[in-house]
Amino acid sequence: MGTLTSERSSELQSIVWDSSSLEVAVMIEAELTKVVDDGRGTIRDIGLHSLNAGGKRVRPLLVWYSGLMFGAPSEALKRTAVAVELIHMASLIHDDVIDGSELRRNRPTAQKNWGCHRAVLGGDFFFAKAFGVLAETGLVKTLEIMAQAVQEMCRGEILQAADQFNTGVSLERYYERITKKTAVLLEASCKAGALVAGAPESEAETIGRFGLNLGLAFQITDDILDLCGDEAKMGKAKYADLTKGNITLPLALLLKEEGYRDWINTVIKEREFNRAQLERIESTLRESGAIERAFAIGAAHLEEARKILSGFADSSQRRFLSDLTYMLQARAN
Ligand code: FPP
Ligand code: MG
Repeated sequence: MGTLTSERSSELQSIVWDSSSLEVAVMIEAELTKVVDDGRGTIRDIGLHSLNAGGKRVRPLLVWYSGLMFGAPSEALKRTAVAVELIHMASLIHDDVIDGSELRRNRPTAQKNWGCHRAVLGGDFFFAKAFGVLAETGLVKTLEIMAQAVQEMCRGEILQAADQFNTGVSLERYYERITKKTAVLLEASCKAGALVAGAPESEAETIGRFGLNLGLAFQITDDILDLCGDEAKMGKAKYADLTKGNITLPLALLLKEEGYRDWINTVIKEREFNRAQLERIESTLRESGAIERAFAIGAAHLEEARKILSGFADSSQRRFLSDLTYMLQARAN
């Protein structure tokens, strides 16, 4: 299993269950480690800490399998996969600084270990490295797609900051936020993979829409789990969105219910977040059906993603992408 620890390899096997996709995941992991290991000092430590914390490497796998829907494996496809994960890694390092989070994937965050100053610079470094990897491979179109996606991610994070504690936030605005901060990078991963492998623009757009829907479902699930998930399984603090005033889908749905609106509005506005109150909010979200409805909305995006895939001829790569949607559905249950 290359250089992977057995813990890491079983984590990857939770997403890549056949031997050929496990080989792909191991190959991407080795390449990522090589790029990160190339740095020095604190930067290298931050990079290895982030990589070794784990993660399912969904974005590089999207690049790879979207590419294989249209062409052969190549060095360019591998470099694109690596660059996307570096961007994602950098964005999480920065996100933890923005959120003041101390725990991610059951480990201290970079900012907890090295402080904000170094964590920001570490994130900047890997962000720049990603674009360096694309530039040295001559992947100009991918550079353009990724540059666009990162700009949207920044806009999404700004929207989130602007809407904190705004109980009047619309569902459209919630969608705009999660599309930008999360779904566009999954869309860009699929689109870039397809284009690097030689897909026509229109087909790359279509597989991009698959990634977009997967990304929306991914963020909706993450938002639901913040309110009712198992902290140990999540590997990060529960109720973090809620206490920061991020009005996510279940809360936005509850705020529309006449019988609950005034109560939840007051609780959020008064920022009354002791443990008992947080648990009361969780049970209200459950008994009102808001959690169930949010899950159903996430499931509808996965259904849409599968519908998009069904427009392509059957292949092992199409099956892998479809399996990914079921894996995400299982995470939600
Ligand atoms: C995690 O989601 C964070 C993101 C999806 C995007 C973060 C984006 C940026 C910081 C801007 C782009 C920056 C770079 C360097 C590319 P979450 O906050 O919903 O999840 P969490 O609960 O894990 O924090
Ligand atoms: Mg966050």
